[in-house]
Amino acid sequence: MYALFMPKEPPRPDRKTNPKPPEVLVVDDEPMVCILLKELLATQGFRCSEASNGRQALELLAARPFDLVVSDLRMPVMNGLELLQAVRSRYPQVAFVMATGENDVRVAVQAMKEGASDYIIKPFHTEVALASVQRALEKRRLQIELENYRLHLEEMVAQRTSELHAAMERIERTYDETLSALGGALELRDLETEGHSRRVTRYCLELARGLGLPEGEVKNIVRGSLLHDIGKIGIPDAILLKPGRLTDEELEVMQTHPQIGYELVCRIAFLAPAAEMVLAHQERWDGTGYPRGLKGESIPVGARIFAVADTLDAMTSDRPYRRALPFSVAREEIARQAGRQFDPQVVQVFLSISEERWQAIRCEPAAGRLPAFGGGASRPARVEARP
Ligand SMILES: [Fe+2]
Repeated sequence: MYALFMPKEPPRPDRKTNPKPPEVLVVDDEPMVCILLKELLATQGFRCSEASNGRQALELLAARPFDLVVSDLRMPVMNGLELLQAVRSRYPQVAFVMATGENDVRVAVQAMKEGASDYIIKPFHTEVALASVQRALEKRRLQIELENYRLHLEEMVAQRTSELHAAMERIERTYDETLSALGGALELRDLETEGHSRRVTRYCLELARGLGLPEGEVKNIVRGSLLHDIGKIGIPDAILLKPGRLTDEELEVMQTHPQIGYELVCRIAFLAPAAEMVLAHQERWDGTGYPRGLKGESIPVGARIFAVADTLDAMTSDRPYRRALPFSVAREEIARQAGRQFDPQVVQVFLSISEERWQAIRCEPAAGRLPAFGGGASRPARVEARP
């Protein structure tokens, strides 16, 4: 039997934050305790149910939602600690107050460690009991609020991250469209190379993937190959478009185009990795290229790939003095130049891809997976291939 005194001014449930009256489940094997607690909580606007042991309490909890369980510690069938564990694991958002005898304070503290929100010592004073129930419900409300906030934050971060990725993709797409337009503008000036950048870029893409390079690097190689001859905008028309052989002086001017291109492109942070390829696109594996005479693996991999792709396109395209050569001839020549003009590993990947595949890539429409540029009716080539 427990002493029960009515509080002078009992606290009321906070209707602002919890408009529905809290549902409380009182669990005790002594019917009188259940009745008194229910009456006390009802005066505060709580809706109460009762169970005489842990098992019955779990049945009620499974049937409908509760905000709080107030449970006796010592009960038959299933004691308070066992019930606490079951409630914590199945209904983590339900608050739990343990009611214990004076001799069970240590067990009550143990219950707190195991997840009880609070405990009441029997025989309990109504004010103390109500304060404990209020504290437990407030704690639960804050926990739910915190959890909702965390979930909302996670959702918000996920949403913002995906928006950021989409924005970055849009920016990259815009950059790539600009690059295509640049490539197109360049080809309008140097008619001999019409479609060349687009084809070479596709060959580079195939080789880079064949070499198993990471996608980030492949992207830079694609950009580098689109822009490889951008420096030719700094070469005077009299040299760039001159029919026939160039003099030594003219050749020297012509050979500044990788450096001019590099200086144009390296200032754009997004294109800095591609700039290295622009600078090195005329280097040769054996060190006889220009502008720096780099050798072997000191040449950026993109430029080593480009060298093979460029030759493939040059040999299989029409020239003023000859028709396009068959892919089989280009294949033999590239194989012969492995270790001289070309990186042997790139040549190996090139040879592992069938002639049919290379032909199919060459014939891909301009609006394929790379941005189209340099379109329009084909014009006759007017000049010899330039360095
Ligand atoms: Fe070039």
